Amino acid sequence: MSQTQNIQWFPGHMAKTRRLIKETLNIVDAVAEIVDARIPLSSRNPELHSIVADKPRIILLNKCDMADQRVTNQWIEHYAKQNIPAIAVDCRTGRGLDKFKTVTKETLAEKLEYYKSKGMVGRGLRTMVVGIPNVGKSSFINKMAGGIKAKVENRPGVTRGNQWFRIDKDLELLDTPGVLWPKFDDQTVGERLAFTGAVTDRILDVELLAVRLLEILMQEYPELLAARYGDLDFGVEPYELLHQIGKRRGFLQRGNVIDTERAANMLLEEYRNCKIGRITLERV
Ligand code: G4P
Repeated sequence: MSQTQNIQWFPGHMAKTRRLIKETLNIVDAVAEIVDARIPLSSRNPELHSIVADKPRIILLNKCDMADQRVTNQWIEHYAKQNIPAIAVDCRTGRGLDKFKTVTKETLAEKLEYYKSKGMVGRGLRTMVVGIPNVGKSSFINKMAGGIKAKVENRPGVTRGNQWFRIDKDLELLDTPGVLWPKFDDQTVGERLAFTGAVTDRILDVELLAVRLLEILMQEYPELLAARYGDLDFGVEPYELLHQIGKRRGFLQRGNVIDTERAANMLLEEYRNCKIGRITLERV
């Protein structure tokens, strides 16, 4: 069963996560929110902002290796204007993670000083890591914790099963309690999560999905499409463009009919594997 269906069957899920996060917020100093840099809007939980309220927040634009660097920088500036530090990271290679440590300590410098002044030796900054499934949360924690499961004991007053990871003497991470869902009731969000492979596309019409992706790509990244699939006529409907791509790739069925379903699967796959290029589907 897909996650999209799951959420409809278990509407209590988000309520439970909301409660768990709220409980845990009392004992953390900050929240690190991981989003997918290719879809920074659709890969967020719509309620998180209000749940986290005034707790300091750091946004990690993960998978930045697959996103358009220029647009990622625009997102970073956008958040900076709201006084939210945002950092581009690649949790597969670990790029940007040192910066995360520095920025977290800078953002919470006063707190860290306070703990030291109170003689709270070993009291690191406690940061809760949140993100919707597939955004790279486990990769982030594993890379930060250096592969060693640097677990700290369960703390009193905290939901059992919460896992703490000590990163260094000043920083501890906590995995999200509960599962944080994206805004599944929004069709555009569902489609964008399917483009990136964050949710399965099995229940969706693959040709329709590819056409929706092409609508964005032909608008924003025609040069990358042309570089990958050859000279294309962009003055057509997206379905016609899919047809052209299928033809270029020689995807023919009996009777010389172009196999657009195969072209659609290929396009989605190549997008997900970053073969078309570094592409961001959501702008500031
Ligand atoms: P989650 O805990 O939030 O559910 O996500 P997880 O870390 O399992 O990551 C989901 C997928 O995204 C994994 O790929 C992971 O390798 C990949 N990933 C995470 N961070 C990055 C990143 O910064 N860049 C890129 N390119 N990929 C990233 P997978 O195909 O499911 O597994 P595998 O290929 O690693 O075996």
